[in-house]
Amino acid sequence: MKNILITGGAGFIGSHVVRLFVNKYPDYHIVNLDKLTYAGNLANLKDIEDRPNYTFVKADICDFDKIQEVFAQYHIDGVIHLAAESHVDRSIKDPFTFARTNVLGTLSLLQAAKQYWNGEWEDKRFYHISTDEVYGALELTHPQGIEPPFTTTASSSEHHLAYGKDFFYEDTKYNPHSPYSASKASSDHFVRAFHDTYGMPTIVTNCSNNYGPYQFPEKLIPLFINNIRHGKPLPVYGKGENVRDWLYVVDHARAIDLIFHKGKIAETYNIGGFNEWKNIDLIKVLIKTVDRLLGNPEGTSDHLITYVTDRAGHDLRYAIDSTKLKNELGWEPSLQFEEGIEKTVRWYLDNQAWMDNITSGEYEKYYEEMYKGR
Ligand code: NAD
Ligand code: TYD
Repeated sequence: MKNILITGGAGFIGSHVVRLFVNKYPDYHIVNLDKLTYAGNLANLKDIEDRPNYTFVKADICDFDKIQEVFAQYHIDGVIHLAAESHVDRSIKDPFTFARTNVLGTLSLLQAAKQYWNGEWEDKRFYHISTDEVYGALELTHPQGIEPPFTTTASSSEHHLAYGKDFFYEDTKYNPHSPYSASKASSDHFVRAFHDTYGMPTIVTNCSNNYGPYQFPEKLIPLFINNIRHGKPLPVYGKGENVRDWLYVVDHARAIDLIFHKGKIAETYNIGGFNEWKNIDLIKVLIKTVDRLLGNPEGTSDHLITYVTDRAGHDLRYAIDSTKLKNELGWEPSLQFEEGIEKTVRWYLDNQAWMDNITSGEYEKYYEEMYKGR
């Protein structure tokens, strides 16, 4: 495969995937197709934008004619599909946009790939990036945490707890609760249906929460780092008891590279960090790290924690079991969480101009609106 279409490459995870592929595979032509919604930002790819093996196309994945044109123009033989509306809170306010982009946009890509490949599936691949949120929510059966029964590089970090004995496995039944996860679940079904019905060589992966550089500051980690820096309140939903499994974004990009090249057609792989954190514990780590790196005495920003009305339908716990990926393809997270968080906080503090660019203007208005009345 030589001509790879990466959708959503100007977003958070997509930009890391594009960077990795452009740097690692000089023989591939990487076509990054992105609509540049509020979440897409070409500044995320400044370092590679002039590379000869890289092309950017501004387009909407729902624009079927344009997508057909792109397949033909660039002789696409592999797709890594990340473009999506990705924020749960926005999906609660505006579910239609999520159905349109995540469901119809995915269908438009599948249909364009099917028509262009025309039954010649050899050396072709349609790889769809999905989320663990499609599985619904797990119970928090051990609120104090238990030592998990697995070992990975990441779990050798100091924080080494699971908040229940149950995990999401590849065969866990889909049970999405938010309009976001419902739209992603639907798109996953379409991808698998194109394999089962037409024989398209598809792969789906479901990953846990990512963190790292270039994440749009409406998501917990970059939002809170920025708010701590500016002495603004930290809106903790509910009691802060919800649990998420966190993975450093570059480790996700490494997994995508491995699975794109070595994963088995029609398979699903779960990708996770074996790294569960209660929101409130994670927020305390963020406060401590930002204060330390800014040279503030410990405890300076503790008072910023502000408990606000819970998110509607807020999933209690996500926890991925990625043993299949480890056993079959040898992938595991390379970074311990403490190391990943330190790198991440440093990056946001060192790249204030990137943050200021995004948080000024339209976004500021949106943010105020979002938290009004909470
Ligand atoms: P993001 O919101 O940061 O980026 C999404 C990108 O898609 C943006 O560049 C945006 O401009 C583009 N886009 C949106 N609508 C488009 C359209 N109609 N046509 C073309 N481009 C469009 O998202 P992210 O966090 O990088 O997530 C990327 C993918 O990974 C998504 O499919 C998401 O569901 C999945 N995922 C994310 C996480 C996470 O923690 N962020 C975890 C697991 C899976
Ligand atoms: P988020 O980053 O939006 O990811 P997701 O909802 O996809 O897991 O949120 C992570 C967790 O943090 C989630 O439990 C909701 C919570 N949260 C807050 O408590 N306050 C906030 O301002 C945000 C954005 C999230």
